[in-house]
Amino acid sequence: MASDSAPHFSSRDAVVCRGVGKTWAAGTRRAHEALRDVDLDIAPGEFVVFLGPSGCGKSTLLYLVAGLEEATDGRIAAFGDPVEAPSPERSLIFQETSLFPWLTVWQNVSFGLSIRGVGIEERKQIARQALQRVGLAEAMDKRPDELSGGMRQRVAVARALAMRPKVLLMDEPFAALDVQTRSRMQDFLLDVWRDSGASILFVTHHIDEAVALADRVVIFTARPGRIKTIVPISIPRPRDPFSPQCEALRKELTELLRAEVDRAFAEQEALADAV
Ligand SMILES: Nc1ncnc2c1ncn2[C@@H]1O[C@H](COP(=O)(O)OP(=O)(O)O)[C@@H](O)[C@H]1O
Ligand SMILES: [Mg+2]
Repeated sequence: MASDSAPHFSSRDAVVCRGVGKTWAAGTRRAHEALRDVDLDIAPGEFVVFLGPSGCGKSTLLYLVAGLEEATDGRIAAFGDPVEAPSPERSLIFQETSLFPWLTVWQNVSFGLSIRGVGIEERKQIARQALQRVGLAEAMDKRPDELSGGMRQRVAVARALAMRPKVLLMDEPFAALDVQTRSRMQDFLLDVWRDSGASILFVTHHIDEAVALADRVVIFTARPGRIKTIVPISIPRPRDPFSPQCEALRKELTELLRAEVDRAFAEQEALADAV
């Protein structure tokens, strides 16, 4: 595309999506449209939660923002620059963290820095700081298999923080944890977010998680995922999940989501019938 027709992205926005679409296996018989026409602006330091029925393209959008996959339509920019490849400024954290089992916790946390050529003493110090921020400074020399699932996810967050990301991309990071651990992890994440200043794009299909965390909730339609609506949340943190405001918000989000979940189910049933 000619550069003079390229839109100008403001460097004041952490992430900008303009008309973003993704068709997997585009141009083949297996072509599969996952996302359509997504417009979204995310401010520095903003906490945005993506909520939508499963299969609506939430993970796909995170991969596009991470630069791991290319959009088939539209454009994505981070701090004014087009996203063309992965960058340590945008760290992605998955549900199942893969830590290297043969490395200690601090070596795992500083792994990305070693690739950057940072020396061992500096790496150890940065790892210690990052682990302090997730409350795991004493676990520096442990191996991943000595940690609980919740602790391993905190190590994953520390590993992302060690790279000083401006944007944290989190794909259902707490989905494999039990309910109590998940709620502790949400509190912990809010603390980390506050002192990191990073923007967070957080995928979940749990309405409670969206209510606990978000500045704004982006609700997606069933596949192909489009933005159905964006719900800003002004309830001050820490939020009491049983407060009338949170109850009302939960009800609003449930209703917005219900129609899309029904549509996603109907589509899956139609697909199953067709096989
Ligand atoms: N690598 C891939 N190749 C082909 N299709 C994919 C790939 N990843 C996801 N999809 C498809 O894209 C759609 C959206 O998937 P995904 O982004 O994982 O949804 P969500 O995270 O909202 O559950 C689904 O229909 C899924 O099967
Ligand atoms: Mg997903």
